[in-house]
Parts: sequence; C-alpha cells; structure tokens
Amino acid sequence: MKVDTLLGLQWGDEGKGKIVDVLTPDYDIVARFQGGPNAGHTLEFEGQKYVLRSIPSGIFQGGKINIIGNGVVLDPALFKAEVEALEASGHNLSDRLYISRKAHLILPTHRLLDQAYESQKGCDKIGTTGKGIGPAYTDKIGRNGLRIGDLEYNFTEKYTCAIARHKEILRQMNFEYDVADLEKEWLAGIETIKRFRLIDSDHFINKALSEGKKILAEGAQGTMLDIDFGSYPFVTSSNTICAGACTGLGVAPAKIGEVYGIFKAYCTRVGSGPFPTELFDETGQKIRDLGCEYGSVTGRPRRCGWIDLVALRYAIMIDGVTQLIMMKSDVMDDFETIKACVAYEINGKEVEDFPFEINESVKPLYVELSGWKTDLTKMQSEDEFPEEFNAYLSFIEETLGVNIKIVSVGPDREQTIVRYAES
Ligand code: GDP
Ligand code: IMO
Ligand code: MG
Repeated sequence: MKVDTLLGLQWGDEGKGKIVDVLTPDYDIVARFQGGPNAGHTLEFEGQKYVLRSIPSGIFQGGKINIIGNGVVLDPALFKAEVEALEASGHNLSDRLYISRKAHLILPTHRLLDQAYESQKGCDKIGTTGKGIGPAYTDKIGRNGLRIGDLEYNFTEKYTCAIARHKEILRQMNFEYDVADLEKEWLAGIETIKRFRLIDSDHFINKALSEGKKILAEGAQGTMLDIDFGSYPFVTSSNTICAGACTGLGVAPAKIGEVYGIFKAYCTRVGSGPFPTELFDETGQKIRDLGCEYGSVTGRPRRCGWIDLVALRYAIMIDGVTQLIMMKSDVMDDFETIKACVAYEINGKEVEDFPFEINESVKPLYVELSGWKTDLTKMQSEDEFPEEFNAYLSFIEETLGVNIKIVSVGPDREQTIVRYAES
C-alpha cells in the first residue's frame, strides 16, 4: 500500500481539517507529518464545531488510528488543552492517538523566543502565530532539540540544559519575560503526553503499509508557506509540501500514492508577506465577511483576494498533485463576476512561472468569469451545479491541468460533493 497525502496549496486555512475528516472513513490511519499548534484545523458535524491544532483530523471517525508524526513539533501545554477539550465533549482519545518518539517538543521558552525574535524584526515581522514554531524547528535543525522519546531517557537533565540556554539568549536580547506559569502548564502537559502510546512511528507506519493498511498523511499550513518553496522569509519553519510527508513520517518517496491538493475558490493569507491577488477594497471585505475569514487560532482577520492560478500551478508542480479539492465555493455565491489570476506582469513582461521575488512590480493579470448567483450550500450532487459554476470549475481544471475531484459547499461534513464526471 501507499500513503496518500492531503496538502494545502495556498497560504494555509484551505479547509484541510474538514476534508481529512470526510476522507477518513476510507483509511485505517491518519498521520500529521509537520507543523504544530500553529495549525488550526476546523471540523463541523452534527451541529458541533471543533478546532484541532496538533491532533490529526481523523480523530472523530471511530476506530481509526491517528498519529502525531516525527515531523511535528508538539507543545505539551497546548496538547493538554486540546485533549481535555475533546475529552470534555465525550471523545475518548487514548486508545487511538499515538505519538512518535521522534517528534520534537516545543519548550515554554520557545514561545518566548518566538516573541523576542518577532519584536526584534520590527517592520519585517513574519506575523507568526507566536507558538514557538520557528525556535523549536531551529533547535531541531541545530541538533539541540528535545524529543518525545527523551521523556524516557535523562529528560530532566536535557530539559534543564535547554531552558538555561534559551534563558541566556533571552537575556542577551534584553527580552523581559516570566516563564514560571508557562513552565507549570508545560510540565502538566508532559503528564498528559505520558498517558498516550509513544511509538516508533517510522516502523509502525511502514509495517502498517506492508500489512495492507491505508494511510492518509495530513498536511498543515500550505505550500506557499513551505520553508523552501514558499514566499521566504514569510513562511513557516517546516516542509509543508508532499516531500514533507516522506521526512515527517519516514515514508519512502516511492510509497506516496494519491496527492490531494486542496485550495479555496479564492485566496487568503494570515500574517505578513507577499500576496499578489490581495484585495484591499470592499470586494476583499465581502469575501472576508462571507467566508468568515478570521484565524481559527489567533482570531486575526485573514487577508483576502482572488484565486491565484500562477501560485496554484507552482504548488501543484512542487507537490505532484494528482487530484484537486476546491473549498468554500459557496463563499463566491453572490458575485456578479469572479476574477482568476492567470499570469503576472513583471516590468512589462507576462510571466506564468511563480517568480523568485514577489514585490510591488508584480501585477496580477486576470480573466473575468461570470458568477453563478445561486446558493450552492444545500446542493447534494454535481448535477445541481449551475452552468456558470461548472464553467468556473472547468476553467480552473484546464488552466491547472488536474481534475477537481471534490467540491466543498459549506463547512459541514455533509456539504461535500464528490464529482464523478470526467472533464
Ligand atoms: P485548515 O487549517 O486548512 O483546516 O482550515 P481552517 O479550519 O483554518 O479554515 C477553514 C474554515 O472554513 C473553517 O472555519 C471551516 O469550518 C470553513 N470551511 C471549510 N469548508 C468550507 C466550505 O466549503 N464553505 C464554507 N463557507 N466554509 C468552509
Ligand atoms: P493551518 O494548518 C495559515 C502562518 C503565520 C505566519 C507564518 C509563520 O491552519 O493551515 P509560524 O507560527 O508557523 O512560525 O508562522 O505562517 N501560518 C499559518 N497561516 N494557516 C496555518 O495553519 C498557519 N500556520 C502558520 O500566520 O504568517
Ligand atoms: Mg487553519
């Protein structure tokens, strides 16, 4: 068997959580392979809404194993809060949530370092989620990290040493802080982690594959936030792309199966950094309002704009996407016309390849399509789609060269339409 992957193709928040939940019944195992509590994956079903940060989105579909993979950075305090919230709503996790021994820990001082580095950057702030993601991955790459497996070996010594090193950096940066409360919550979180099964996830996953088990790898963030291929330096600190599933789970490249690429019918971004199709006018505000585009973790208003097919084509190339999933189609229900960016104009030249540098000289070139002015939210099958919506789907498929297999028409699990027609 192979591992199918589900990846955000834009700047995150595409709706990954919802679709992982919808696809989970077809799988035995769902595994997160990178990122940490910077993610906020929202799921809605039976009138309830849940936001997951580190726990994979397959957790609500009974009997499935969910794994926090080695590529993830885990904050014990936030993990504890997440576990307790789910348990309080009647979901028992301990028998189906496993954690990789090789996943790295976000220490309480990583969060402080995240704040300190951001404040030092002044106007060039990344606009991070402030969850210590960058500093935790920096320690991982710098070979100073603490791993879940360290809880079983000389943990106190390693922890004390790492905290002392971070405190010294904070002191040198003249950053004022109080770590006592953070540390207390963090240590309580460690006890929560110990309640779960800690596994050698690389062996576990490969054994499962050889036994014929079906595995879905859940990405966090999106391709345009990837550390190598995103809009650097305004990115996150991990490989969010398909290759990240190989390193973040210990799966060989030849064992990757379907690559689901997920995108919104328009585009959003949180935090700083280039966004060629961003709208600063009432149309942008209309998308924000209709799409409830406010961060699920930070509550920050998301920047909104038209769909960017140049960036999407790039993401599809980097990820090797085999099937597309279009989300939040219903948010576009009330527009007379909808624009799609098909190329950029840079210094008078038309460019179709996503460029190295995105600055003020990059101008999006649009094709204008008719809106459908129809409520999609109650539709059950593609036979009900209005002609203009079908034309929008076909235009995207033709421009990107990959079929759109699933269309989402609302936040609920049920508002999901699988397309069968060949385009
Ligand atoms: P993720 O990080 O990729 O899992 O996405 P988020 O959960 O951060 O953001 C997606 C938001 O859109 C959530 O509030 C979802 O409930 C919501 N959502 C998902 N699919 C749809 C859809 O098709 N239509 C609408 N209107 N909302 C959706
Ligand atoms: P999900 O999985 C949207 C953004 C932050 C910031 C940059 C770096 O819900 O799609 P970080 O805290 O990772 O160092 O922040 O990346 N960012 C996200 N934006 N969705 C996310 O996750 C994000 N995770 C990080 O806003 O611009
Ligand atoms: Mg999100």
